[in-house]
Amino acid sequence: MADRYTQFTNSSVGKFLAPKLGLPQPTPLRRYEPGQPLLDGPALVGAAKGGRLEKTVAEQLNSAGIDVRKEASEGVKYGALVFDATGITDPAQLREVYDFFHPVMRQVGYCGRVVVLGTPPELTSGKERIAQRALEGFTRSVGKELTKGATSQLVYVAAGSEGATESTLRFLLSAKSAFVDGQVIRVGTAGAGGATITAPTNWEKPLDGKVALVTGASRGIGASIADVLARDGAHVVVLDIPAQGADLSQVANKIGGSALQLDITAKDAGTKLVDYFTERHGKLDIVVHNAGITRDKKLANMDEGRWDSVLTVNLLSQLAVNDTLLASSVLGDNARFIGVSSVAGIAGNLGQTNYGASKAGVIGMVDSTAPAVAEKGHTFNAVAPGFIETQMTAKIPATIREPARRLSSLAQGGLPVDVAETIAWYANPASAGVNGNIVRVCGQALIGA
Ligand SMILES: NC(=O)c1ccc[n+]([C@@H]2O[C@H](COP(=O)([O-])OP(=O)(O)OC[C@H]3O[C@@H](n4cnc5c(N)ncnc54)[C@H](O)[C@@H]3O)[C@@H](O)[C@H]2O)c1
Repeated sequence: MADRYTQFTNSSVGKFLAPKLGLPQPTPLRRYEPGQPLLDGPALVGAAKGGRLEKTVAEQLNSAGIDVRKEASEGVKYGALVFDATGITDPAQLREVYDFFHPVMRQVGYCGRVVVLGTPPELTSGKERIAQRALEGFTRSVGKELTKGATSQLVYVAAGSEGATESTLRFLLSAKSAFVDGQVIRVGTAGAGGATITAPTNWEKPLDGKVALVTGASRGIGASIADVLARDGAHVVVLDIPAQGADLSQVANKIGGSALQLDITAKDAGTKLVDYFTERHGKLDIVVHNAGITRDKKLANMDEGRWDSVLTVNLLSQLAVNDTLLASSVLGDNARFIGVSSVAGIAGNLGQTNYGASKAGVIGMVDSTAPAVAEKGHTFNAVAPGFIETQMTAKIPATIREPARRLSSLAQGGLPVDVAETIAWYANPASAGVNGNIVRVCGQALIGA
């Protein structure tokens, strides 16, 4: 559905009226197009004394074609401000964060990026733990202050994983992360289960040779995930219920993939998938559990059918499929499981006890499964979309839809492609150290933030 308010506030009349009336003015976001440079301007890179990431990060940014600056200059609009805060081991040193950012906050360009790098607090102790935890409040607050589509993120990098950050930095700095804001990401001990982190030979086609499954892919977010994974080089099998067969074939044809009509809640869904991928492709590298439904009612009015169907599609069937896949030999080396949760699973939503439980369950699924799959060399992460413009959200009454769009730092809804790009980052071979994360794709929604 078109966001007419954003269209209006970006018209000449709207640009004049909105500030006078104190109305939010959403900026049309820069989104990724193949061949596009990562940043619109230079990156200013700094570090607290004793930081262990600055050198590697500067090298990674250079190799990505970014103009890296070490000294701030007046009048320059920066594409990104990147600060290595891993050297901060005492809260008193947080002043170094202020000293780096304060003078250049007005120099962040259109859709610019702020990225702070730290050490996971839980892997530190004493004063260092306090100082590192403080970075979270800083970065999230910066996200709420930035304007013109700029975003702010915190990346906690475990000691020993310094080389594992490239795919994450490329994602966060680029327009691929347009609707990801105020997030805290953990990059862990490099290479789950000893898997080596291999930079793709071609960053434009990082998924070459990979076979992916996307459930619920006949429309909306699922169709976009399929599109982006195929753009990145994967052969994508799109799955949906038989009733969606015609739309599913269209998606498969458009991306040069394959269509598989299957109800993911069928008792034998897991076995059917193992047989299908073994026979046709010999392996399965990327599993995206996107299929999901809503059956809203306040709990007092909710019949058991609504409860059961939502829990079954959104959680129970996914657990069953995962168990069957993990018990089989179909998974490729360093496979990726990716769940689709929701901000409703974090903040809760009126009329969505069933949906909120199922989507919080997806987060639990990541928490409980990620360590176990890491031992096999795989990863398990999830996205938690906020308000995304799809047929699902077009059905929401306008009185709820409009505030839902505006109540985020970016003051607009996201697009299916924003969720898809985040999933493609998880799937990237160079993201082998990214495990157990829940990244919200919500423009830093103010509800439940
Ligand atoms: N749109 C949003 O703002 C938003 C926000 C947060 C989370 N999500 C989640 O993102 C995912 C995609 O959402 P969407 O907005 O594109 O929804 P959608 O309704 O447009 O698409 C969901 C797809 O899943 C399919 N599906 C449903 N039950 C299935 C089953 N048993 N087996 C196979 N396929 C099945 C549907 O046929 C449909 O094609 C869902 O998990 C949803 O909960 C969406």
